[in-house]
Amino acid sequence: MEIRRILVVDDEENMCHMLSMVLGKAGYQVDYVLNGIEALDFLGKFPVDLVLCDVRMPKMDGMALLDAIQEKGIDVLIIMMSAFGTIDTAVEAMKKGAYDYISKPFKPDEVLLTLKKAEERQRLKKENLYLLKNARDRYSFANIVGKSRKMQELFATVEKVADYKTTVLITGPSGTGKEMIARAIHYKGARASNPLVAVNCGGIPENLLESELFGHVKGAFTDAIKSKKGLFLEADGGTLFLDEIGEMPVSLQVKLLRALQEGEIRPVGENRTIEVDVRIIAATTKNLADAVKEGTFREDLYYRLNVIHLEIPPLSERPEDIPLLIEHFIAKHNKRLGLNVEGISRKAMKVLQQYSWPGNVRQLENVLERAMVMSSGDVLDVEDFPDEIRFSKNNKPISNLPETLYSIKEATRWLEKELIIKALKKTGGNRTQAAKLLDISHPALLYKMKDYGIGGIQSKKTNADE
Ligand SMILES: Nc1ncnc2c1ncn2[C@@H]1O[C@H](COP(=O)(O)OP(=O)(O)OP(=O)(O)O)[C@@H](O)[C@H]1O
Ligand SMILES: [Mg+2]
Repeated sequence: MEIRRILVVDDEENMCHMLSMVLGKAGYQVDYVLNGIEALDFLGKFPVDLVLCDVRMPKMDGMALLDAIQEKGIDVLIIMMSAFGTIDTAVEAMKKGAYDYISKPFKPDEVLLTLKKAEERQRLKKENLYLLKNARDRYSFANIVGKSRKMQELFATVEKVADYKTTVLITGPSGTGKEMIARAIHYKGARASNPLVAVNCGGIPENLLESELFGHVKGAFTDAIKSKKGLFLEADGGTLFLDEIGEMPVSLQVKLLRALQEGEIRPVGENRTIEVDVRIIAATTKNLADAVKEGTFREDLYYRLNVIHLEIPPLSERPEDIPLLIEHFIAKHNKRLGLNVEGISRKAMKVLQQYSWPGNVRQLENVLERAMVMSSGDVLDVEDFPDEIRFSKNNKPISNLPETLYSIKEATRWLEKELIIKALKKTGGNRTQAAKLLDISHPALLYKMKDYGIGGIQSKKTNADE
């Protein structure tokens, strides 16, 4: 915001004259009044960008004026002027929302400097803040944030399947929110008031997993000194979340399939079966279809689990979700840690949107939390993020070979072109450096660029070498 119109409020008329002159000379449009009541009257009639206000005044003092301005919702910056003995009040005023204070007596330059600072801060704040007001609510679903088409489709599917007992398979790389989606399905659905029991199939040794899931009777094996209920029975009426299902040993896969098909389980050491009513949600980072081909996952179980398949894309495939996630996590950790981070600079946002996020949303959240704690300003900037993120621009892996390309000759040309573009981007269009990176001669690079129809890569660095 540009500060142009200033209202001085001070009961000492000399002070008002002095400020009018100094500020007027500096190009501001200045008016003055002698107390708070007149100030309110003025503010009600004329637009003002900033109020320069004495603390101690007859009729209505500075604090009362501040209160009144806020109560009326007048949008104006307020800087308090405090004489000796009123500094405490001025500080108090800042806590209440005054923008700054300046202590009397002051030199003309000091006032101007304070104003410049205020302007600069306002400008930075406005420029830097990536505003996403209200967007969060629109694009969040059970605290899961995402506006990308893929995520919106996921939310819609979750909504549709939540109420049914259908088995759901959730796949996606680590940190994409598989467990969150599983929880959303349970808590949005008809089973929400019954238990949701989660188990990590990769985290329990094979011999224990069976009794963990299906329970055992006393004496079923050496360590079975008591009988055990098992997670299926604990989840009766509710949902059993089988995380890392791809890690489940094949021997148990058979038993799981039976439980799914028959709706009954048999605890270890028990010869009767027990009926259970459990909804299964399974998740994995593995490609189960591949596991089936490799023989580590049973095909019949795969089809049984795969009735509804929710696939969560990696974060790098939905950069449009990143700003929203950032806003979500800043709000979350402000609240949790008692911080006051207001947002993130445009530059930092760009860097975060370009990064490849191998650890997906979990990594983004961790990186943000750390930046919020370490940052000294109220707007996160590029410096607040780790080097590997800041300096990884243009480091995206080369995109996938086109589906229809089989010819080795053609594919080699395709790759060569990609590499040249990558090298030129990396060097900001500097062909000598690019040729070095590519390990070919400068003329060879020029020839190939012509051959492939690659123009100069534009760059801010204009250290072009020809
Ligand atoms: N869309 C999202 N909105 C908000 N938070 C998310 C989102 N996706 C993931 N998170 C956060 O990221 C973290 C990881 O999520 P979650 O544990 O569900 O991932 P996961 O896919 O199960 O990972 P893993 O495969 O490593 O177990 C959690 O802290 C979660 O709060
Ligand atoms: Mg998980």
